[in-house]
Amino acid sequence: MIRGFWVVHYGKSHNQNCLNGEFARVGSNPKFAPVAGYHWFDGDGMIHGLRIKDGKATYVSRYVRTSRLKQEEFFGGAKFMKIGDLKGLFGLLMVNMKMLRGKLKVLDVSYGTGTANTALVYHHGKLLALSEADKPYVLKVLEDGDLQTLGLLDYDKRLSHSFTAHPKLDPFTGEMFTFGYSTTPPYITYRVISKDGFMHDPVPITLPEPIMMHDFAITENYAIFMDLPLYFRPKEMVKENTLIFAFDATKKARFGVLPRYAKDELLIKWFELPNCFIFHNANAWEEGDEVILITCRLENPGLDIANGTIREKLENFIDELYEMRFNMKTGMASQRKLSAPAVDFPRVNDSYTGRKQQYVYGTTLDSNAKVTGIIKFDLQAEPESEKTKLDVGGNVQGLFDLGPGRFGSEAVFVPREPGITSEEDDGYLIFFVHDEVTGKSAVNVIDAKTMSSDPVAVVELPHRVPYGFHAFFVTEDQLQAQAKL
Ligand SMILES: [Fe+2]
Repeated sequence: MIRGFWVVHYGKSHNQNCLNGEFARVGSNPKFAPVAGYHWFDGDGMIHGLRIKDGKATYVSRYVRTSRLKQEEFFGGAKFMKIGDLKGLFGLLMVNMKMLRGKLKVLDVSYGTGTANTALVYHHGKLLALSEADKPYVLKVLEDGDLQTLGLLDYDKRLSHSFTAHPKLDPFTGEMFTFGYSTTPPYITYRVISKDGFMHDPVPITLPEPIMMHDFAITENYAIFMDLPLYFRPKEMVKENTLIFAFDATKKARFGVLPRYAKDELLIKWFELPNCFIFHNANAWEEGDEVILITCRLENPGLDIANGTIREKLENFIDELYEMRFNMKTGMASQRKLSAPAVDFPRVNDSYTGRKQQYVYGTTLDSNAKVTGIIKFDLQAEPESEKTKLDVGGNVQGLFDLGPGRFGSEAVFVPREPGITSEEDDGYLIFFVHDEVTGKSAVNVIDAKTMSSDPVAVVELPHRVPYGFHAFFVTEDQLQAQAKL
């Protein structure tokens, strides 16, 4: 753990109170050298947190103390199966070893095998660290910004499956909606968690084959599931020496729209669109008979091997912002492109989750999937169809370019006033930046309304903060509420 105190340099006369809280970003940071290959999904979850209070900032980095990490610390090395290990015959050996270690009770593999390295969410007084192969880990943000792992959350034993890293919170009802995927039928299990933290009964969503489903979406009345052709293929892994997940470019993309309080899957409506993969959705809402999904669509997820070696990072990551429309009456689906490549980590003002909104904030990516800038889209403006580059104009209302050699991470929107009574884009975007030339890292705060190139605040950090996955802003109110745990 490294900790220090820095003053937030507010550039202008801004209302700083909404920035009181903890900005946290989780990522993959392997504590022990992997046995075989290393895949960028594999590392142990490490959180980089910045506690901001009245213009002062404290930085902390902490591993999520997962069951997996604690067991590997006990053995002094990597023991759990990793995605990078799941390749070819060695992959089969690793699957068998995992089962054997579990049977012999050498390792506890019944739960807690996940890394908690993917995303963070706050619900019912708890900050949760998530990875899609496991249940959530509960964290506590201490008053000074330090992070403590409290343990695995199973909702009074009602949760018996994995839990997506991208659950959705309805800002109007306080409910959380989630799902888990598995390698056995029905392959997807959908759950609704009440405002009070009660997990309702499982709803099976039956798919033809096991897949990786990274995200989903909700509207006021529906949940949207994405059956995209990134298949779990253990046989091909052995035969063709590929990774355990294989993308099939010949298959259609399927989207299932289910009334969100359905007790079973009878009323789900499936829609087909051209082949694609999607990691992240921005938001979804309803308009008349249509359900609209705003998403980052890519032609090929690039999760497989390249030149005989497993990619440690994404290459040629060319996802684009899309609008998809599903007509619940006619059963027709359509899509249109809203951006040039490459944009991901889409975020909105969370007060509008599931409701129609105007602005999407994302990250622009270079060919190595490094974040080169923060971009703001206006969904009510027309995209410039000829555009091949992400620059201001058309529906691109602003672009905060990080400059040469500087790369960022997911930007979280922090509203000046929570709720939908204030202007949707009245707030700040907060994110980590790393300068590869100087080796220095910082947290930047920019004005989301103006997207001015002059940051509102910059907090310089004493050491490198590695690139990671998703970020979250825990408000002061949330921080105080979870202190009661
Ligand atoms: Fe994600």
